[in-house]
Amino acid sequence: MAESSSMKIRVEELESGMVTADNVIEPGTDRVLLLKGTTLDSVMIFNLKERYNVGEVFIRKNFSASTISAEMRAEIDIHQSLSTLKDVFGSDDEKPLKEFTKEASKQISNVANDLITSLYADDNILLKMHQLQSYDDYTYKHCLRVAMMSVTIGKSLDLPRSKMRDLCEAALLHDIGKRTIDIDIIRKPGRLTDDEFTAIKKHPQNGYILLRKNGGYSEEIMNAVLMHHEKFDGTGYPLGLKGEQITYLARIITVADVYDALTSNRPYRQPWSVAEAEEFMMGGANTHFDYDIITAFLNAFAPYPVGENVILSDGRHAVVISNNSNVLRPVIRLTDEGEGDEVIDLYNNFKYLTLSIKSLDKDGINE
Ligand SMILES: [Fe+2]
Repeated sequence: MAESSSMKIRVEELESGMVTADNVIEPGTDRVLLLKGTTLDSVMIFNLKERYNVGEVFIRKNFSASTISAEMRAEIDIHQSLSTLKDVFGSDDEKPLKEFTKEASKQISNVANDLITSLYADDNILLKMHQLQSYDDYTYKHCLRVAMMSVTIGKSLDLPRSKMRDLCEAALLHDIGKRTIDIDIIRKPGRLTDDEFTAIKKHPQNGYILLRKNGGYSEEIMNAVLMHHEKFDGTGYPLGLKGEQITYLARIITVADVYDALTSNRPYRQPWSVAEAEEFMMGGANTHFDYDIITAFLNAFAPYPVGENVILSDGRHAVVISNNSNVLRPVIRLTDEGEGDEVIDLYNNFKYLTLSIKSLDKDGINE
C-alpha cells in the first residue's frame, strides 16, 4: 500500500534522495525491485528507467534535496567514480592503450580516495555492486567492482587505512594491461584458441609495464597488478608463485576478481548466483585462494543481501529485510499472496529452525 502522503511520479522526473512510498514492482511480474522506504540514488533511477522499464513510482511528498543523507552522497560518488574510470581507461571498444599518463594516475588516486571514504560510510555494498553489473561488461566496470570488493575484504581483515589506499589503487588498475591487448580477443564471445589465451595471459605483465613506465607507483601496487592471477598452490600465472610469495594485496584482489567474474554476465553464460559463487570460493580455499582471506571475504559478504527475493525450503517466497550474524539465516518477509507480509527471523526465532532458504529467486515471485 502506498502511504497517504505520497504522490505518483514518472521515472523521468525522479531525483536522487527521493524516498519510495511503496514497493516498486517490475512491470509484467510481481518481482519487488525496490522496497518501500528506499532512498533513491542515480544508479537505481537509471536501472528503473533503462533496465526495468518502470513507468511511474510512488514517492513520499516531503522530499527536498537537503534530505540527501551522507550515505546517499557516498552512493553518488560511486557513480561519479565510474565515469572518471571510463575516461581514464577508455572503453574496450577504443584502440589499445599505449601509455598510462601522470594525469590518469592522479585521477585514479582521486577515485581511490572517494571509494574508500564511501565504503567506510556504508556497509551494504553487495546490492550496489549488482546494480553496477550490466550486459556491456567493460573492463573499467569490472575494475570498479573489484576495487569495491577488495576494500570491503580489506576492512574485514582490519588492514590499516594506509595499506587500504594501495589496495584500492591496485584493484582499480589490476586489469589495466587488458587495454593493451587486441580488442577482438578481449571481447570474443566463444572459446579462445591457444594463441589467443596466451595473448590474454600477458595482461598482468603488460599492466605492470604500463605502471612502471608511469613512474609514480610503488612496488607494492605494481606487484599486486602483476600477481593477481597467481594461485595459492602455485598453479596460476604468469610466474607460478606460491603461498606467501604472492603479495598480500594480490591475494585479496584475486578473491575479489574471481568472485566478480563468476557473478557477472558473460556472452557465453548466465551469471552464477551469489550462493553458488560463495560455494565455489569456499571450495578454493588453500588451493586457489588464501584461507584467511576467504574467511574475511565470507564474513564481509552476506549471500542473501537485503532486498533479495528468495525461495524457502517449504516453497514459499520471501524478501530479505535484514541480516543476522549467521549470514545464511537472515530476517525475511513473506511475499506470497495471503501470507499477510509476515516477518520471520530465521536465526533468532526457534519456531522456524526447520525453515531455511533454498535459493535466490532470480526469476521473481509467483512467475
Ligand atoms: Fe585479470
